[in-house]
Amino acid sequence: MIDPFGRAITYLRVSVTDRCDFRCVYCMAEDMTFLPKADLLTLEELERVCAAFIGLGVRKIRLTGGEPLVRKNVMSLVQGLAGHLGDGGLDELTLTTNASQLGKHADELARLGVKRINVSLDTLDADKFRALTRWGDLAQVMRGIDAAQQAGLQVKINAVALKGVNDAEFDDLIRWSHGRGMDLTLIEVMPMGEIGTATRLDQYLPLSMARADLAKRWTLTDLDYTTGGPARYVRVEETGGRLGFITPLTHNFCEACNRVRLTCTGTLYMCLGQEDAADLRAPLRQSESDGLLVDAIHAAIGRKPKGHDFVIDRRHNRPAVPRHMSVTGG
Ligand code: GTP
Ligand code: 5AD
Ligand code: SF4
Repeated sequence: MIDPFGRAITYLRVSVTDRCDFRCVYCMAEDMTFLPKADLLTLEELERVCAAFIGLGVRKIRLTGGEPLVRKNVMSLVQGLAGHLGDGGLDELTLTTNASQLGKHADELARLGVKRINVSLDTLDADKFRALTRWGDLAQVMRGIDAAQQAGLQVKINAVALKGVNDAEFDDLIRWSHGRGMDLTLIEVMPMGEIGTATRLDQYLPLSMARADLAKRWTLTDLDYTTGGPARYVRVEETGGRLGFITPLTHNFCEACNRVRLTCTGTLYMCLGQEDAADLRAPLRQSESDGLLVDAIHAAIGRKPKGHDFVIDRRHNRPAVPRHMSVTGG
């Protein structure tokens, strides 16, 4: 699948549920209304769409949410998709999780062939964590991360950079992640959903500034390393660990975009930062063979936008994209 800008689409992110057991302030509203269960694709349907994408050249699938591990029976989907690993066409099956349920699932994920996972964790301070997630329990998340590492999963920590909230903690996050053999990635907060409010905008921290500040205390060496994702990595010489920067606002990476996003209702978003979408549920359900579905996927890829136009719009104080991040899981 090649889009109008010559980019090969090889990475599918699948939001298996819009629900989450947390309500991170930059991701969801506190009184979020979730989709009625009847609107969701079944796990079998999600697997069928994924299989069609694999047939069309997708080599990496990441399950997201909401929180992917709160979807009932999600491990049956993992098992089904794991069947495509190796010669089945899929190079990597992975997920992005808040780790709250990892204690229960880590062993099985590893057994099924998942090699690495990304865990969202913005602070090591239990009170701050509770405030950011609106009620999350840091100790439970830590148990989840322990279980993942014990199961042999490689863990990468994702921290959204928030000025005045966790920016004084980056040194601790580096020491802690690298001390446990985990990469750490800092992420610029994207103006989606509720993010349009004044507080949210004030919390935006350009990572070029964070990097300059970190460079006063740490020796940062640029690396060629990539996971095929948007992060640009440096080595922190003092720890030997990798630190990534995801900078949609200060350093746009859309030129190398290789991904599209499927929601749990069967909508395909062609760009995280645009509303362009295609319905795959109707063609999926119209026929038991995949012809209509494949046509709909090709048509959607043919309309993939060039990139996002996220801006921090202080004057109008509104989000660039009204959709919440939890619809597509980042
Ligand atoms: P790796 O496979 O480890 O590279 O993961 P990833 O960065 O592709 O995925 P992850 O779920 O860890 O995403 C980390 C952050 O990057 C999240 O905040 C995502 O919203 C953001 N992100 C991922 N892909 C894109 C993208 O295409 N555009 C933008 N603007 N942000 C993205
Ligand atoms: N901006 C940037 N990253 C976000 N995430 C959730 N909401 C936002 C936002 N508004 C992150 C989560 C997780 C990943 C999937 O997306 O923290 O790491
Ligand atoms: Fe849940 Fe992740 Fe959104 Fe936080 S960022 S509310 S953990 S989906």
